[in-house]
Amino acid sequence: MADEIRILVVDDDDSGREALTLLLRSVGYTVLSAANGEEALDIIAREQFQVIVSDLFLPDKSGFDILQSVRKVSTLTEVIVVTGHGSAQTAVRAMKEGAFDYITKPIDFDELKIVVAKALEKQQLLSENVYLRKQLRGRFEFSNIIGNSPAMKLVFEKMDRIVKTDSTVLITGDSGTGKELVARALHYNGSRRERPFVAVNCSAIPEALLESELFGHVRGAFTGAVKDKAGKFEAANHGTIFLDEIGTMPLHLQTKLLRVLQEQEVERVGSNKPLKLQVRVISATNLDLESKVKSGEFREDLFYRLNVIPLHLPPLRERKQDIMPLVLHFLEKLGRLMGRPNMMVNKQALEALEKYSWPGNVRELENLVERMIALTDASVITLDDVPTGITSGKFFGEFVDFESSADGIDMVSALTALERTMIVRALEKSEGVKARAAALLGINRTTLVEKIRRLKIEEVVY
Ligand SMILES: Nc1ncnc2c1ncn2[C@@H]1O[C@H](COP(=O)(O)OP(=O)(O)OP(=O)(O)O)[C@@H](O)[C@H]1O
Ligand SMILES: [Mg+2]
Repeated sequence: MADEIRILVVDDDDSGREALTLLLRSVGYTVLSAANGEEALDIIAREQFQVIVSDLFLPDKSGFDILQSVRKVSTLTEVIVVTGHGSAQTAVRAMKEGAFDYITKPIDFDELKIVVAKALEKQQLLSENVYLRKQLRGRFEFSNIIGNSPAMKLVFEKMDRIVKTDSTVLITGDSGTGKELVARALHYNGSRRERPFVAVNCSAIPEALLESELFGHVRGAFTGAVKDKAGKFEAANHGTIFLDEIGTMPLHLQTKLLRVLQEQEVERVGSNKPLKLQVRVISATNLDLESKVKSGEFREDLFYRLNVIPLHLPPLRERKQDIMPLVLHFLEKLGRLMGRPNMMVNKQALEALEKYSWPGNVRELENLVERMIALTDASVITLDDVPTGITSGKFFGEFVDFESSADGIDMVSALTALERTMIVRALEKSEGVKARAAALLGINRTTLVEKIRRLKIEEVVY
């Protein structure tokens, strides 16, 4: 049976063991029991359990032995230890060694039921998260680039072909879609991986310096040029140069860049000695280069030179299937960096994140995950941890759907509904304290009270 929940009870005391077994069976769990450590280890080696409730003191083994062998066979099984009263230290040690929780004798059955339910909840979440991660792992070669959507699948397929060549690539996509990440992956998975990858952000360098930055200069070429200096192109010889934000490059440098690409050689500023170079060019832009070509701000011939292989990264809102894997990826990666391993997310929070439109794309998502981890003490991100700015977006999205409402949308009633939902949620969040709810909504208390009356919001809802 798929939904069967299996629990193992380990206790050498016959009446205690039977009482526990009956109690847990009455809740609907499938319960097996063992009367000593040897028997328990035997069963654990053969069968799977979601939860094990074990006495810490057994005649032949200790509960710690059980904990350890459980950890060896399954990382998903949760162990609850039962200790005699006054053995707080052992209980603490059990927690440190990975027990989910402990209860003290005499056992309070209601407490036990709650602890078991909590362990199952965690176990369920963990197994879902583990399952999802397993599904995602090893799917593509570029393992640090996460993407499950058909759109990203096409990107990966294209990247697979690009890494086998030395061709010039132009990566386009909105801010935060992963252009730099992809550029690096192309370099580090290609034949030049042992050679330098040199990134130049064309919009971050003052125009006056960009030329010497790219092509280098000789001593005395201009005020301040006190010695000869190699440019980024030279530094990238035999490797890859990544020209980021290429759309902002001034026209006179575009001309010079075009010549470098055509001749495959550079001249340092102030020198007329050309240097032969062998550099692979990957450039990126979040601007619409074709319209810049039309308006005369970008050289058409340079555009064609750079755009030998175009690679477009769609905005995150057009590949919602990637949101869940990305959230899991960042929870794991950032959780580890922040000393918070095993961070998880529940379904409601994920759903809210999936509904949001992510104008800042993957970067915005990454920053949000970091913020949510930092702001909670728990190991599970829930809907409460998702900022209202993100969750409220979903209401707008739901209301403003002219496609499926042929008669148009009644704005006044839609806004009233939104107002109502926001107030109810603020009241829930503040446990009915109106002053706090008003603060959450950025309105004053009298206005809130007036709105509650006008919208007939029942006080019982929270
Ligand atoms: N598919 C992805 N999988 C994992 N991480 C990603 C993915 N896409 C982007 N990121 C992460 O999101 C952040 C932003 O990505 P990146 O800097 O490559 O974006 P960009 O397109 O260059 O943005 P901008 O135009 O603002 O420079 C980085 O930390 C990057 O590692
Ligand atoms: Mg970038």
